[in-house]
Amino acid sequence: MRKPSKFLVATMIAALALGLVAGCGTSGTSGTANQAPVKKIKIGFSLPTLKEARYPIDKDSFVKAAQDLGAEILVQTANNDETLQKSQVEDLITQGINVLVLDPQNAVSAADLVNEAHNAKIKVISYDRLIMNADVDAYVSFDNEKVGELQGEYITKQVAKGNYFVFAGAPTDNNATLFKKGAMKFIQPLVDKGDIKVLFDQPVPDWDPAKAMTMAENALTANKNNVNAILAPNDGTAGGIIQALAEQKLAGKVVVTGQDSELAGIKRIVAGTQSMTVFKDVRTEAQETAKLAVEMAKGQAPTLNSKVNNQKIDVPSLLLTPIVVTKDNIDKVLVDSGWFTKAQVYGN
Ligand code: GAL
Repeated sequence: MRKPSKFLVATMIAALALGLVAGCGTSGTSGTANQAPVKKIKIGFSLPTLKEARYPIDKDSFVKAAQDLGAEILVQTANNDETLQKSQVEDLITQGINVLVLDPQNAVSAADLVNEAHNAKIKVISYDRLIMNADVDAYVSFDNEKVGELQGEYITKQVAKGNYFVFAGAPTDNNATLFKKGAMKFIQPLVDKGDIKVLFDQPVPDWDPAKAMTMAENALTANKNNVNAILAPNDGTAGGIIQALAEQKLAGKVVVTGQDSELAGIKRIVAGTQSMTVFKDVRTEAQETAKLAVEMAKGQAPTLNSKVNNQKIDVPSLLLTPIVVTKDNIDKVLVDSGWFTKAQVYGN
């Protein structure tokens, strides 16, 4: 056998020093010469918008939780534009993500994105809003029908007889359907009894507060301001509706619901112009989703607490519990949980 040249010996010593030679005493978990270095798990996170105050919290909580679990996160937000979301998701797919976490702008057309992801062997978690008619791998959200029930129960307790305006969220969002379904469980029986009259019943495209305001202005005019209660599906639309009420000096005189526990909504509750909101701790929603995404990327099959049908399959789901917030429990629910400080809620 030929003696190794001086150059080869020197190279081997250098390589040993760097720990690059196979079997040179490392435990072999990562980065040895005959093993590819362990690749970081890559997760794509696509949000429909950052407009509602909740979404920056979803985003930051998700990124932090997933990074703490060692994953790399690519985030996209689509400005309520489903075409933009499609191209953003396609871009994420080409960047080699292992799992796609998708909060769809359009629950129906997002099914195509699930198929595209699956073709690239990427698992899909439907985040907050359910993607319809697709083989979604998992769904994480709140019990959205329950959100609507909380709104419906509250508003019918406050106004058991009278004139109602019923606003719903974006027709492209399956949550909006569920919120309304839940609320109508309480409102409809009183309509059938003849105690409640629904004078207005329309969805707000894109959950847009400015559109909600115009719609409320028109409904008030058409009904000569004759309204006792307004079902608003979230705090954003409630804000627009309450502005329209204020123009008619009716803010605080009409019961208005909400959802999301946005600071602006909470301040209106303190001021008495909005009656209630719903707290969904989206920090938990985002953290649970990050955990699930990492587990799925590792090929684990996590156990979830529910199944939700999306008109194609029963999607394994994790549904969290929403909580009613009124003037009486702001401190307990929102301050004690660190959602807001007292100064934020009661300061100027
Ligand atoms: C829903 C979501 C709500 C609300 C709304 C507007 O899907 O569950 O929390 O923010 O969208 O974006």
